[in-house]
Amino acid sequence: MPEENLQALPIGSIPPLGEVPNAMRAYVIRAERFGEPTTSFQEEIIPTWEVGPGEVLVQVMAVGVNFNGVWAGLGEPVNVMRYTKLDSHVAGSDASGVVWAVGPGAQGVEVGDEVVLHCNHLLRPGASDDQLIWGYETSHGSFGQFTKVQAQQCLPKPKDLSWEEAASYGLTCYTAHRMLVDKARVQPGEDVLVWGGAGGLGVFAVQLTKALGGRAIAVVSSDEKAELAMKLGAYGTIDRREFSELQYRDGMTPEENKAHLGAVKAFGKRIWKILGERKGPDVVFEHVGKATFRASVFLAAPHGRIVICGATTGYDLSFDVRHLWMKRKRIIGSHFANAESCRRANRLIMQHTIRPVMTRLFPWEELPLAHQLMYENKLHGTVACLVGSPEPGLKNMSEVRAAQEG
Ligand SMILES: NC(=O)c1ccc[n+]([C@@H]2O[C@H](COP(=O)([O-])OP(=O)(O)OC[C@H]3O[C@@H](n4cnc5c(N)ncnc54)[C@H](OP(=O)(O)O)[C@@H]3O)[C@@H](O)[C@H]2O)c1
Repeated sequence: MPEENLQALPIGSIPPLGEVPNAMRAYVIRAERFGEPTTSFQEEIIPTWEVGPGEVLVQVMAVGVNFNGVWAGLGEPVNVMRYTKLDSHVAGSDASGVVWAVGPGAQGVEVGDEVVLHCNHLLRPGASDDQLIWGYETSHGSFGQFTKVQAQQCLPKPKDLSWEEAASYGLTCYTAHRMLVDKARVQPGEDVLVWGGAGGLGVFAVQLTKALGGRAIAVVSSDEKAELAMKLGAYGTIDRREFSELQYRDGMTPEENKAHLGAVKAFGKRIWKILGERKGPDVVFEHVGKATFRASVFLAAPHGRIVICGATTGYDLSFDVRHLWMKRKRIIGSHFANAESCRRANRLIMQHTIRPVMTRLFPWEELPLAHQLMYENKLHGTVACLVGSPEPGLKNMSEVRAAQEG
């Protein structure tokens, strides 16, 4: 059928279990409208994905919003369609939903299973860390009525969470867990400096540090964010607005550089004050990149670890390497997580050791706005958006059907 004649159900309507419409609504990114999210994310009606061997089709109930959607829409620092060799891209690396169709050989899932999805798309069976990020490096992400994943990406949906809460935490929670538990291996009694301590990654880094028996110092930029970080178990917070020269920029004059180094030292003293001893953090949780990385290397304690998974402010980093080698510090790269690690982290959510932190819920029409606000650093915690679930607060398909009938 020509694509202009495709018909899709309205958002919030769900067909009978296992019935797959031939078309669906999705937010589609195309190279000709790369730019800020409110421009780059446009709803289109597209053919519903066909499932291949080992794959499953999931009716999406709610989605989580992540920074990778912003990057995909900007077309920076890479054009994601370079990976997929397609001319359009459906982003989205978090969702909760129901398994609607199962491809040949897909194991461990059945039609009707209520699931959350992790975004480690294996390049080949058993590859573990050799991954593509589903919804970023693959074109069939969660921002549609249906999404297509490998069966191994399905994890049990925590029954006590609403669809939207369940969709809100995966990517950031599993990434933070991988960084602190598997990579930096935080030990009881260690101190962790968490940049963006009330952001998507940060809210989980703070909770995980506490659960591991460590002390998290959360860096934030508002009173509201400081309050949230403390509520989640931070040992202390630092408002980075008090240290305006802390941010590193290329091309600083000698005077600006001097002021910058002074601010980094003053920031370090604030850490001592919070910890009650003259020591730096054993682990620095990094994802801000250019603006903070220089300070991170300086601030980490001797033998400390700087664990990094992102670079919101720029990936071309500059730092004084003498602080690294003289004090035997280590920089550890980390990128999302493998399925086994995701499963462990999801269990922590199911056991209530750590909790989702959904601070705002958007309707489907405002998914571009949700990304725009994230781009402008106007959100905190994590946010989600309803897709198939007709109203907030519903936790399973029985409640969805009851809401549709009532
Ligand atoms: N590789 C991976 O697997 C992976 C996974 C998840 C995320 N990431 C990347 O990690 C980054 C953060 O993701 P997120 O979901 O946590 O984003 P987020 O929810 O927007 O939070 C980021 C936080 O960074 C802080 N921040 C922003 N600009 C800053 C600056 N100039 N100096 C200091 N702090 C600054 C902000 O906190 P304050 O303003 O309160 O200080 C903000 O809350 C993104 O670039 C994302 O793409 C990578």
